[in-house]
Amino acid sequence: MVLAINGGTPVRDVQNSPWPAWPMWGDEERTGLLEVLESGVWSYNGPKEQEFLRRFQEYLGVKHALLVANGTVSMQLALEALDIGFGDEVIVPGITWQATAAAVADVNAVPVLVDVEPDTWCMSPQSFEAAITSRTRAVIPVHLYGNIADMDAIVEIARRHGLHVIEDAAHKHGAEWNGIRVGGLGDIGSFSMQLSKIMTAGEGGAVTTNDYELWYRLDALRNCGRRPENTETDKSSGDYGEEGDLIQSGNYRITEFQAAVLLGQLTRLESLNRTRETNGRYLDSLLSAVPGCHPMKDDPRETKKSYFNYAFRIDEKELGISVSLFRQALSAELGIGVNACYQPLNDCMLYRPQTKKRHRLNDEYWDALNPARFELPESQQAFHHTSVALTHRVLMGSSEDMEQIAEAVRKVIDNKKELRQRERG
Ligand SMILES: Cc1ncc(COP(=O)(O)O)c(C=O)c1O
Repeated sequence: MVLAINGGTPVRDVQNSPWPAWPMWGDEERTGLLEVLESGVWSYNGPKEQEFLRRFQEYLGVKHALLVANGTVSMQLALEALDIGFGDEVIVPGITWQATAAAVADVNAVPVLVDVEPDTWCMSPQSFEAAITSRTRAVIPVHLYGNIADMDAIVEIARRHGLHVIEDAAHKHGAEWNGIRVGGLGDIGSFSMQLSKIMTAGEGGAVTTNDYELWYRLDALRNCGRRPENTETDKSSGDYGEEGDLIQSGNYRITEFQAAVLLGQLTRLESLNRTRETNGRYLDSLLSAVPGCHPMKDDPRETKKSYFNYAFRIDEKELGISVSLFRQALSAELGIGVNACYQPLNDCMLYRPQTKKRHRLNDEYWDALNPARFELPESQQAFHHTSVALTHRVLMGSSEDMEQIAEAVRKVIDNKKELRQRERG
């Protein structure tokens, strides 16, 4: 059988059977947007935002949530709420979107990169503990793609060393660890609602916490330093509360239009998560039967899985082909992009903290920012040699779609000789 990458017929005819589209939306978003338009309440703290926060808190089982501009500033505000800044170190996993580390640099702390587990690509608890110094103030585990970081071990280590835990849950609205929704497992949770995420307003983010004091600071930080109880204060009076309680900050707010869209998205999150989980687990079972193909870890403590990307690994040595060519061949069969995991942060095109003058605070800090000083062998191995990732769109189809993905993987592997020839040129 000729592979699609070599001109053969692809496994999926995407012209006639397109993959599910993203974003998904319906009458809830349409009606909500029109209501906001006609109300004239277009900015922040409107009724849709309040309603969304009430429902999101209830859904996640957390005491407090706030909407912010995106899932990058959410982490910056979390760090500022915890009073983390110059002179502090924050531990971040080697595989994540650059924002996790960039937020640390943006508060003038040092991002310390540690390696990941080979079967989840989430932070290795052992590497985290080994990287702790007297300057460490916090850790940011990232719940990546279909997996949740080992929060039992990470929280235990953090508590033992007196460190704060900020969960980067950008990918994971609704996933559960030991029956607790992510975002409520550490001190502060951070979510992204950017377009590719599993609930979206195009852009947007959220922070969550069970701690009233942290919520209070976060609310002021997202809103130019205004204290939560004084957001309505007549600006001309200049009365923003007691001098000693005020915090300097900028505008990290969201609009009422985005809140309206998010309210709609929340109505279908649970059912979409269920579909993605059923399909993801089914695809795991199909791929585990394919030689040279390894699903990610299925941890029983993940009591509800959610997927941003669906990821799996191939064994280059066993198959005798490079993972990059495998991904290209699979993409041609399926008619959809097939990617590697994020580029490890010690060598990532979009993580270049030593390019901004404002980070040149002194020579020691400048050197500490250099990402290349960290060794991340598992992260490098995953990026260069094993990782295969598909968008969560593919998980919103039918069980037959999962069978078709497995068929495409098998077709590529069965015809690896064709790929080897191609590789030799
Ligand atoms: C793990 C992770 N953290 C943070 C972010 C940043 O979110 P945003 O794009 O909303 O700023 C992303 C976005 O891709 C992400 O994947």
